[in-house]
Amino acid sequence: MPVTRCVCHNLSFDELKRRADAESLSLDELKERTRCATGCGMCEPYIQLMLLTGETRFRVLNSTIMKIQIQKHLAQRAAQNMLNEASSAMNSSRQTA
Ligand code: FES
Repeated sequence: MPVTRCVCHNLSFDELKRRADAESLSLDELKERTRCATGCGMCEPYIQLMLLTGETRFRVLNSTIMKIQIQKHLAQRAAQNMLNEASSAMNSSRQTA
């Protein structure tokens, strides 16, 4: 059975993703506005993965695999940001040369 919602507050990940996308919400902002992940907290790593990957259905993951997946996505995002910054810097230096 896939994990698709915050059970404590009956909020589906689809609904949370729509809200996060529409309002560009971080995890903390999403928690504050919807109360997701403020009950037992078991859904929080899934919601974090949802924000990183856009996925809204997850197989049940143990905490170690969950942490590895979150770290992997955070590292990919950081690497992409570094590439974007380097590309921006190169474009800026070309325009001033
Ligand atoms: S399942 Fe989301 S807080 Fe418990």
